[in-house]
Parts: sequence; structure tokens; C-alpha cells
Amino acid sequence: MKNSLVIEGGYPLNGRVRVSGAKNAGLVLLVASIMADGETILDNLPRIRDVEVMVKILNDLGVNARWNEDGSLSICPPQGAVKVKTSYELSKKLRASNLFLGALLGREKEAIVSLPGGCDIGSRPMDLHIKGIQALGSEVEIEHGFIYARTKAPAGARVYLDFPSVGATENIMMMAAKTPGQSVIENAAKEPEIVDLANFLNSMGARIRGAGTDLIKIEGVNELKAGRYAIIPDRIEAGTYMIAAAISKGDVLVENVIPTHLHPIVAKLQETGAIVEETDQGVRVRGSKQVRPVDIKTLPYPGFPTDMQSQMMALLSLAEGSSVIVENVFENRFQIVDELKRMGANIKVEGHTAVVNGVNTLYGARVKATDLRAGAALVLSALAARGETTIEDAIHIFRGYENIGAKLGQLGAKVE
Ligand code: EPZ
Repeated sequence: MKNSLVIEGGYPLNGRVRVSGAKNAGLVLLVASIMADGETILDNLPRIRDVEVMVKILNDLGVNARWNEDGSLSICPPQGAVKVKTSYELSKKLRASNLFLGALLGREKEAIVSLPGGCDIGSRPMDLHIKGIQALGSEVEIEHGFIYARTKAPAGARVYLDFPSVGATENIMMMAAKTPGQSVIENAAKEPEIVDLANFLNSMGARIRGAGTDLIKIEGVNELKAGRYAIIPDRIEAGTYMIAAAISKGDVLVENVIPTHLHPIVAKLQETGAIVEETDQGVRVRGSKQVRPVDIKTLPYPGFPTDMQSQMMALLSLAEGSSVIVENVFENRFQIVDELKRMGANIKVEGHTAVVNGVNTLYGARVKATDLRAGAALVLSALAARGETTIEDAIHIFRGYENIGAKLGQLGAKVE
């Protein structure tokens, strides 16, 4: 596909859009499925670039992963051992490859996982992941950009996470699921994707309690039985289309959502003046003629999601007044500011805080997607901008949004 999106702004979005399966649930469930004996079938997986890369990594490890006619994905680990070293080439495309640490230790008692390169939103350390697997009995060396982990005497343990890291919680949960004894994760991440992983592992016979709270208890089991599982809808994709409706002053029904997952997004969007209603078909969003400024602080779930911060910044660039956005989760997630300023936005960044002084009009321009969510936010600003916007490096957007061009087109946007 061409690596840019061209959008003619000024068309209100109207109609219905169906949310796909959650990228950040699908990726970890693909990894967890290597721990099961037999064929796992995952339904509702989005066909996005990150999922395609993860499928390649599975096959590279000797796990047979392939799409079925009905759109589901089958994952068949081999009878014997799988390769325990993830490919550097593939891993550098996808940070979530670091989730093989816990799954390989759970299945093979050994893992050699490429240290994920830093990405545009921060250094992305793995100290909490390593603290967790060491507590469960692994010996860890870091050399030549790889984490070498081996467990001689795996045993359940209590792990306190200094920060409720999503990835660290997932890695420890997967390893503990097949580590003899009782493990406890304190100050665990509470994201819906964590709950989906626990439900998936429990459907295979794991014994995990407390997912969704900050205290997760895991009783290790010897084997996990493969089965069929449908992943949850993507709350961030849903939130992105909700803001698309608001910023274009349209009227959109966002279907296939789990309302509780959207509460922080619904609340803040309502504060801007948009009309947001939960119906039994989904969430209906109508844009208001004036956008009110609101202050945003990103926090771990159930706080306002960091993955929606750039999208809100795009909307607030057109507010009647100044908004203050504080990014508390990642240390460098304001990359989008320079691109929005090229479209006429008036934003001032001081460390973790951005002051967004709303303007009346944004103008189409050539801009670059620096990361997935910044790219999505540029789509939103382009929908409202006067004239044509060309978003380069749009591959970042296709990493996490299934059929975004078609979905926006169906709603009346002028996209190619
Ligand atoms: C997951 O990343 C998501 N990715 C991210 O979504 C999301 O932004 C993030 O969680 C927070 O919700 C996937 O699920 C594949 P973290 P993850 O570990 O697990 C620090 C998207 O756009 N930290 O919760 O990498 C870290 O530096 C992506 O879909 C440590 O200090 O996030 C960051 O500042 C972007 N030490 C903070 O915690 C560690 O050992 C949150 O990171 C681990 C993390």
C-alpha cells in the first residue's frame, strides 16, 4: 500500500462504524497461545500490520500460525520444544515481541528475547519485567541487545511492580501460569487487555484470580489446554472514531464496544461539549458547534488512557480556550505537537505538560506520522482542517487501525 494518506477536510462524518478486535489484547493472546497444547483458534483478531508481524514471529519460532477461511487465526505449537530465541529483524518491528519472555519461560524454562529498541514515545525499559521473572526463579543476563533468561528452579513468588506496567504484568502472569506454586502480582496493571489475557489463560485451565484489580493471584498448573477464544473490541480504536465524529461535527454510531472500557474517554469527550450517548447498539457521538477546552491527565487504567492523548490534543487544538494536557505514563509522547503546529495549532510544551491554546481553524498541510497514535491524531485534525492534508509514513497508522481508509470513507470522509 502507498505509505501516505491524503484527506480533504471539512466533511462531517455520519453513519455507523464497527470497531475491530483490540490490538493490545490480540498481540498478547497470540503470544500466550504458544503455552497451550493443541490448536488455539482466536476470533476477532484485527488484520493489522502488528498482528501480521506477530504471526511471522510465531512461525519463525516453529509455531504454525495461519489464517482460516472464516477470518479466525489458528495457532498450533509443535509437540516438542519451540525455538526460544526471537528474531532480531522481526522483533525490532514490534515492541510487543518482548511478551515472548514470559510465555517462553512458562513453556520452555528458557527465553532469549531481543531488547526492544526505543521507540518514538520513550525509552521503554524492561526493568520491571526482569524483576518479575527473576522473582519467579529465572537467571537473567543482558548481552548484545538480548535478554538471556533461564529458569533452573521455577517457584511461585510475590512481585511488587513499582509502576503498573501492562507488559510486565502480562509477562509475569504468563510465566506464573505454568510456574509451580502460588504467585502474586502487587500494583498490577488493570487494563481490560490484562483481564482478557487472564480470561484466555483461565479458559485453557490456568488459575488466575483478581485480574482487573491491582492484586493478581496465580496458582501454577502443569498444562494448558488449547481452545477457541474471541478477543475484546479495541477501546482505543473506538475512542479514535468517537473523536472523529466530534472533531468533524458529525453524528456517528460506534458499534461493537464494551461501554465500561470507554468511560474515561466518554467523560472527557462530554466535557468538551460533544453529545455522547450509550445505546444498546454502541456509542453515538454528535459533535457540538463549539469545542470547550478541558484539562487531561493521562494515567494507568481506569484513568484517561495515554493512547488517546494525541487524539484529544487534535480535538482541543480547535477548542474555545486553553487546555492543559499532562502525560504521566510515557516520557516523550508529544511528538505530534510539531506536526499539529504545521497545520496552524497553537501549542506550548513544557516537559510532561502541553498547553493547547485553541484556534478557530486548522489548515491542511504535509505532515508525518511519528508513531501510531500521533498518526491517528493527524487523521483527526485533517478531517477538520480546511483544505487537503497529506500524512506521510502512514504505515504507522496501518499498524493499529484495521481498514481505516474504508471505515472513514463509509462515514463520508474524503480519504485516499
Ligand atoms: C502497553 O505498552 C501498550 N502496548 C501501549 O500501547 C500502551 O500505551 C501502554 O501499555 C500503556 O497503557 C501493548 O499492549 C502492545 P507499560 P507497554 O509497560 O506494556 C514504564 C499503542 O499505541 N516501564 O505499561 O510497553 C514505561 O517506560 C501502544 O497501542 C518501566 O519503567 O507499556 C512507560 O513509561 C503504545 N519499566 C510506562 O512504564 C518497565 O519494566 C508504561 O509502560 C516497563 C515499563
